Amino acid sequence: MVHMRPQVVAHRGLVDGGGEHTLTSYLAALDQGAEALECDVRLTADGHLVCVHDRDLRRTARSRHLVSTSELAALADLDVTMLTLRRLLETVAELPQRVELAIETKHPTRYAGLVEKRLVELLDQFDWLGPDSPVRVMSFSWLALKRIERMAPDLDVVLLFESPGEWLRSRAVASVDWIAGPDVQALRDHPKAMRRIAEVSRVHCWTVNTPDEVDRCLDLGVEALITDRPATVLTHLTRRERSRDVLDRG
Ligand code: G3P
Ligand code: CA
Repeated sequence: MVHMRPQVVAHRGLVDGGGEHTLTSYLAALDQGAEALECDVRLTADGHLVCVHDRDLRRTARSRHLVSTSELAALADLDVTMLTLRRLLETVAELPQRVELAIETKHPTRYAGLVEKRLVELLDQFDWLGPDSPVRVMSFSWLALKRIERMAPDLDVVLLFESPGEWLRSRAVASVDWIAGPDVQALRDHPKAMRRIAEVSRVHCWTVNTPDEVDRCLDLGVEALITDRPATVLTHLTRRERSRDVLDRG
């Protein structure tokens, strides 16, 4: 019997392995066996997409600078490595193995749809807008995903949400093939609603860090596990595969 194993996606790289959204941490995550990388993107004042979660740099660089009002060079002068999305894409393109990228556009932002526009332009430069693209786009904003769908109809899109109600309300505007992207807490707090969603939609779940959370995702048939701990998740998946093999043979 063939069982599909979910893809293991490193959330912001390996946070314990060199700081979130740094090239070092992404490479460390791949060394641990991650098969895909998650990153958040925002636009700088001079139009560069950079990999950063928060709107300002207080948490990561003890600076009050806003990403959206700072030029890339000014951010580079701070005591933090600011990874551009272009640099991350170049790195992934040069890897010998296929590595997928789950790119999250952060909203709200003063640049609104310009973020998706710049993202699609950048992906086009890599020839990564076709059905075989290693990139999928995620957002908590359905509007952002509608823009991606319009500009890059072959890309997979993932609507992120914390509770099933957000997903259900999006159904009026979303396409049937959008991927559901629940917080792993939703699997615990709303198991019936999540089961109904998983019956008709593909599911990518975040942030899946413990064996118990991996088990919930496996039970639901989740396709991608976005995690801060790729090694822990992979070890548990291997353990589960071995015990299932024993059952299949028995
Ligand atoms: O992968 C989705 C997840 O990253 C969403 O939450 O806050 O970590 O961007 P956040
Ligand atoms: Ca994210």
